[in-house]
Parts: sequence; C-alpha cells; structure tokens
Amino acid sequence: MGKFLLGVIFTLIVLVLIVLGVAMLGMAPTTANVEPPHWERHLAMSAVDNSMDRHAPRVSNPLTPTDANLEDGMKLYTMNCAQCHGGLDRKPSTLANSFYPPPPNLVSDPPDDPEWHIFFTIRTGVRYTGMPAWDKTLTEQEMWKITTFLSHMDKLPPAVQEYWKTSFNPAPATEEPKPEEKKEGKDKEKHDHH
Ligand code: HEC
Repeated sequence: MGKFLLGVIFTLIVLVLIVLGVAMLGMAPTTANVEPPHWERHLAMSAVDNSMDRHAPRVSNPLTPTDANLEDGMKLYTMNCAQCHGGLDRKPSTLANSFYPPPPNLVSDPPDDPEWHIFFTIRTGVRYTGMPAWDKTLTEQEMWKITTFLSHMDKLPPAVQEYWKTSFNPAPATEEPKPEEKKEGKDKEKHDHH
C-alpha cells in the first residue's frame, strides 16, 4: 500500500513537471487570432456556465423595463460593449474575430440566460477571456440597465424600437466605412462559418 501511494505521488509529480516544462519551453500556444477548437469551446463554455451557477447570487433586477431604462441600457451598451459584441446598427463588431475565445454577437443573438446570470457576467467578467469585469467602471444601476436591455431585446416596446431605429439603424449616410475596413470585414467573415 505504501509503495502504491508513492507510485501515485511520483506519477503526479512527473505530470506536473511535464506541464511546467511544456509551458517553460514555449510550447503552449498563446496566439489569439485563431478559432478555438470545438471541444475546447464546449468544455470552456460548460465550465463558465457551471461556475456562474455555483457563484452568482440569485438577485432579481431592481429596475422595471421602462422605456427610459431600456433606452439608457441601449446607450450604455453602445458606449461600452458594442465594440466587442456588435453594434445596434447590426454591423458585426470590428473585433469579432480578434479574441480567443471570440465575443458572441449580443445584438444578432441576445443572451437568453436569466437576468442574475447576465448581471453577474457583466459585473465580474470572464477570466482568461477578453470579457472585462465592469464593477470598477459602471455603477450597479448602469449594469442593471444594460442587463434589462439585453434581456428585453426581443420584446422591446414600440417607442423603444422607434428610438433604436432613429438613433442607430440605419446608420447615418455620412458614416461610410473606410474602404480597407470594408475589405477586412469581408475577408474575416469568410472564416466565420458556424
Ligand atoms: C474588450 C472586449 C469586450 C468588451 C468591451 C465587452 N465584452 Fe462581453 N465578452 C467578451 C468576450 C471575449 C466574451 C466571451 C467570453 C467567453 O467565451 O466565455 C464575452 C462574453 C460576454 C457575455 C456572455 C455571453 C454568453 O454567451 O454567455 C455577456 C453577457 C457579455 N459579454 C456582456 C457584455 C456587456 C454587457 C458588455 C459591456 C458592458 C461587454 N460584454 C463588454 C468581450 C468583451
């Protein structure tokens, strides 16, 4: 029994040394401009979701989805999130394919998670990804406004839809993308086949 235990400990030490060796020899990949393999994406997504389920407090949204709150959420989203998660003009984000893992487009594919889940993601961020924690930058109320907007995106009241249309979509005619940006966007879209 003693020998068996020593064997187990020895094996564990060797495994740790192999992992450290791989990292120290520069064999661990660190580039962000490639797409994560499916198995990795699946595993990481489950790990994040399960961790949220374990850690996020089941708080309910203190705000009501009034027109004013939804419109504030829209503005806050545009200022802080659209660069990575896609704009309200429905153009893909310029950084859509520049993160590992890539940020989901929250406008074309709004999150269907409960509000406490969305709020917790915004407040605490997602470690080892480009998703920042916003608790040092935004107030609780601002984070709840964005949460409210995201969770109501599919069922916005007519006045708010009108506000969206007049403020963000269609984009003003003066806002032509620069030619090289246009080309880049197209090239990148080719790789984005899901
Ligand atoms: C610098 C880029 C960046 C900014 C800015 C950013 N995010 Fe993210 N966000 C990410 C990335 C990358 C992920 C993917 C993390 C992952 O795969 O687990 C993510 C994930 C998320 C998710 C989880 C989506 C899901 O499928 O569960 C939500 C919700 C979210 N972000 C909301 C926001 C909100 C709201 C803001 C603005 C306050 C914001 N993000 C700003 C990069 C960003």
